[in-house]
Amino acid sequence: MDYDDVPLSRAYELVAGGCLIWVCTRSADGRYDLAPIAWSCPLDYEPSSRLLFVCDKKHATLENLRSSGAFAVALPTREQMGLVEKTGSVSGRERDKYRDFGIAAERARKVDALVPEGVAAWLECRLLRTVEEGSVAVVMGEVLAARARSEAWKERLHYVSESLRYRPGQAF
Ligand SMILES: Cc1cc2nc3c(=O)[nH]c(=O)nc-3n(C[C@H](O)[C@H](O)[C@H](O)COP(=O)(O)O)c2cc1C
Repeated sequence: MDYDDVPLSRAYELVAGGCLIWVCTRSADGRYDLAPIAWSCPLDYEPSSRLLFVCDKKHATLENLRSSGAFAVALPTREQMGLVEKTGSVSGRERDKYRDFGIAAERARKVDALVPEGVAAWLECRLLRTVEEGSVAVVMGEVLAARARSEAWKERLHYVSESLRYRPGQAF
């Protein structure tokens, strides 16, 4: 079989299949925020579902979830990709993304966060802990509540790189 060398700076793409999520938070002074995160995955399911994601230490999102101890994870759909790019291009420190991008949202039920309308599913989490490594932190959360459309697994998005995004194809 033939294999090509993969540049080390792109080797991570080989294992990047994570579900694209919006992490929705609220700052200590009351501003709601949301940031797209591509590096996410499950952590455990017993005794309860837990998940993790990788968050740059500079993001307002990290500061917000540390101060509030909670966050919501929403699964954008393909139709929301434009909004994903917008919300990932500025920091909630500088802008109120919900107001400036006109994002209609509903309140999460168990945590203080706003979930954009039209997402495939969302999960509400309490923060378990964060572990810092270099310029990023691994954020771990326990799911307190979750709601999903019946076909959410088909609608969710996976982000490998700017040039490769996909939705799950045929299940088997
Ligand atoms: C498609 C997409 C995927 C992203 N994935 C991640 C990620 O996995 N981890 C991360 O720290 N930032 C990621 N980002 C960058 C943040 O979403 C972006 O810097 C955001 O503006 C941070 O907002 P905040 O400062 O309000 O938290 C991604 C951005 C986009 C557009």
